[in-house]
Amino acid sequence: MNFQSDNVLGCAPEMLDAIHRANAGTAPSYGEDEISDRLRARLSAIFEAEVDVVPVVTGTAANALSVAVATPGWGAVYCHRLAHVYCHEYGAAEFYSGGAKLLPLDGPGCRIDAADLERAIAGVGHAAVPACVSLTQATEAGTVYRLDEIRAIAEVAHRHGLIVQMDGARFANAVVSLNVSPADLTWRAGIDILALGATKNGALAAEAVVVFKRELARTLPLRRTRGGHLLSKTRFIAAQLEAYFTDDLWLRHARAANTTAARLGAGLARVPGVRIVHPIDANLVFAELPPGLATALREADYLFFDWPKFGPNVVRLVAGFATDPATVDALAAAAARLV
Ligand SMILES: Cc1ncc(COP(=O)(O)O)c(C=O)c1O
Repeated sequence: MNFQSDNVLGCAPEMLDAIHRANAGTAPSYGEDEISDRLRARLSAIFEAEVDVVPVVTGTAANALSVAVATPGWGAVYCHRLAHVYCHEYGAAEFYSGGAKLLPLDGPGCRIDAADLERAIAGVGHAAVPACVSLTQATEAGTVYRLDEIRAIAEVAHRHGLIVQMDGARFANAVVSLNVSPADLTWRAGIDILALGATKNGALAAEAVVVFKRELARTLPLRRTRGGHLLSKTRFIAAQLEAYFTDDLWLRHARAANTTAARLGAGLARVPGVRIVHPIDANLVFAELPPGLATALREADYLFFDWPKFGPNVVRLVAGFATDPATVDALAAAAARLV
């Protein structure tokens, strides 16, 4: 039973069917097709604003492109020290932006704070020109930024002329966790551009850059092509996303993942010696296990990653859209037995 990542799961049948439907006949290439047009309209309705949409196939590309349009090569991009964009993407955002500097900030639960951002901007000196702030929602710790926290960060950022980018690889999980509208969680709170994920929540390979501040969209298509991310058959990515945003599939998936993660967290919290490290706001569970328990669980065929960034003996367990709740009950029961 594999809890290593949301990516270990397969693809939702609705999205596979959409790919199959898009396969009939011919269609204009490079995003000039009807499905891509419909996707733009669908996302404009969901976000209650006219948005520009650029489908891509990895979250790293969505982050790199959306940061690149938000900063010159001499710019500073503030993010959390444990942000994916900072510590898992081998400098993709710096590369795509032609040299911008990612400057890490600290903060509990992988959240940065408006006052720290203000201080960092004031103290940047000649290192770079403050240009962008990147917030991960839901965060790498499985927590979420509340609306007032995002608004406060965006207020500081905009007052100093910075663009606010959101890494929404798990955006759906944050939307259902906070029970807010996609518009409230983004542009109404001050987000200018969003890397919107779907792969972790049921797509085969589909993400999108969603632009709220329209002038950022000007160079985005050029950068996408230059970066090798303009798919000639973009319709197959758009088809997945259209299915994702039909009949609330994205929200149903995220709700299932979050609920299963909460159930896993509650089960593990009852095991003597186990400590849940971060609030389980979304679908990630970080647990400190008593010595030996991780090994015993792995020997019993439960797969998960160690997460030493959050301390010794801390592991990460991820519930996805299709994780069977019975498997998390089984894991908690095994932990109680093996401890
Ligand atoms: C928060 C976050 N952002 C971005 C990504 C990058 O996604 P991908 O692996 O599709 O490039 C990930 C993947 O784990 C992630 O967790």
